[in-house]
Amino acid sequence: MTVVKLSAWIGLGIGLQLLLFAGWAFLRHWQRYQTLKQRLDGLEQVGKGPDPIEAVSAPVVPVVPVAAPVVAAWEGWRELRVGRKMMESADRTICSFELWPVDDRPLPFFLPGQFLTFRLQIPDPVTGEVREVTRCYSLSDRPGLDHYRISVKRVAQGVASTHLHDRVQEGDRLAVLAPAGRFVLQPGEAPTVLIAGGIGITPLLSMILTQLAQNPHRELWLFYGVRAADEKMADGTLRGLARQHSSFHYFSCHSQPGAKEVVGRDYDHAGRVDITRLRLSLRLVPYHFYLCGPGAMLESLVPALQVWGVPQERIHTENFGGVVGADAAPKSQPVQPVQSVQPVQPVQPVQPVQPVAAVVRNRPLMVSFSQSGKKVLWDGSARTLLECAENQGIDPPFGCRSGVCGVCQTRIEQGEVEYVKNPDYTPDQGTCLLCVSRPRSDLTVTA
Ligand SMILES: Cc1cc2nc3c(=O)[nH]c(=O)nc-3n(C[C@H](O)[C@H](O)[C@H](O)COP(=O)(O)OP(=O)(O)OC[C@H]3O[C@@H](n4cnc5c(N)ncnc54)[C@H](O)[C@@H]3O)c2cc1C
Ligand code: FES
Repeated sequence: MTVVKLSAWIGLGIGLQLLLFAGWAFLRHWQRYQTLKQRLDGLEQVGKGPDPIEAVSAPVVPVVPVAAPVVAAWEGWRELRVGRKMMESADRTICSFELWPVDDRPLPFFLPGQFLTFRLQIPDPVTGEVREVTRCYSLSDRPGLDHYRISVKRVAQGVASTHLHDRVQEGDRLAVLAPAGRFVLQPGEAPTVLIAGGIGITPLLSMILTQLAQNPHRELWLFYGVRAADEKMADGTLRGLARQHSSFHYFSCHSQPGAKEVVGRDYDHAGRVDITRLRLSLRLVPYHFYLCGPGAMLESLVPALQVWGVPQERIHTENFGGVVGADAAPKSQPVQPVQSVQPVQPVQPVQPVQPVAAVVRNRPLMVSFSQSGKKVLWDGSARTLLECAENQGIDPPFGCRSGVCGVCQTRIEQGEVEYVKNPDYTPDQGTCLLCVSRPRSDLTVTA
């Protein structure tokens, strides 16, 4: 046999082996895909079913649930001093504030993902009249330090964010409520995917810093969506952490990358964080998903995750402003009612709104605001009582506009309300949260 013939036989042998291996790999992948597809088809038909991702993957790692503390870490408003103020993003729209105690008491621990509520005294730029404004800001660093940190995005014409950026200086004191909120990272080993849109990175950053300090082996993914590089916060830190920890995967998506930005160097994907990107990157294991970002991002990604087969209890969301999905539920599915005379039971943040028997309304409901003496027919033009009040020129206090801070709690004098979203905050008996409720009967509230 000549050398040429021998080489040809060897080449053929290697080629055959490669072909066999590729065929075997393809077959395995195809089988897993078919299993997943069949389960998803079944899920669509019956409307519910076992978790397809879980069914074809590693056994579920039990998650030890942790509840946000029921009792606040301190009572009422506490003064904290701004220790350091620093710009975080290249476009100078995100500014961090370190907050230090002014008394000798140490700052209590918080759960990564929680927020602080601030009461700000803001002078009107024209009249100089001081107005009290309440806003919430997530803690963006890990717990256990001698200070807290928040990171605030400047919002065009935004009252509080502009005030914090332009007027609040190092050494100033701010009135702050204790850390609160149920959008917190569950401890344990469960593989976890964090998805941030814009300033929604703040609570997730706290989760990442905490997790990598306490349990660096847990599989952790971050998908961070922004328009361009100069909007990003902590990008260098995140890249450094991803290099340092093989368990942490950082993936940044730019929807409008700048001309000088290079994929692979400045970002990983041109476009938004979407379900295709997630499916291409993630393994078939039972991840927990934590999403924080604009309403539009949550409204598109949450249903897409559900269709993919992720159970509701593994999807955790935080919305920074407003009631996401309040109107997304079909009109034929009324939301959970809350009696005005009953205390509201604490609810879990991941529970979907429960359908109840339909309320028969044969006439428009009348909403009365007793303090301002205004009355209005509920015609559906407002989604919540807060919006309804604002449409009437009434200015009730609010913080989160999403049922988590309790600032809009208002007394019900007569009638009943129902909630468009299960509130995280439990209102006192005989009160309601204007920002997430609407009338269930003719209603009078003290506003
Ligand atoms: C739990 C939670 C955590 C949060 N964490 C963070 C965080 O970590 N970082 C962060 O930056 N934000 C966070 N937020 C959002 C934050 O609380 C504020 O909502 C945000 O800073 C905007 O407040 P503002 O007073 O500046 O804007 P607002 O004055 O309330 O304005 C809000 C919007 O209305 C528009 N607007 C205001 N006035 C007018 C007008 N006259 N005409 C037309 N449009 C107008 C503004 O342009 C803006 O789009 C969080 C919110 C919640 C609920
Ligand atoms: S404004 Fe925060 S609960 Fe309504």
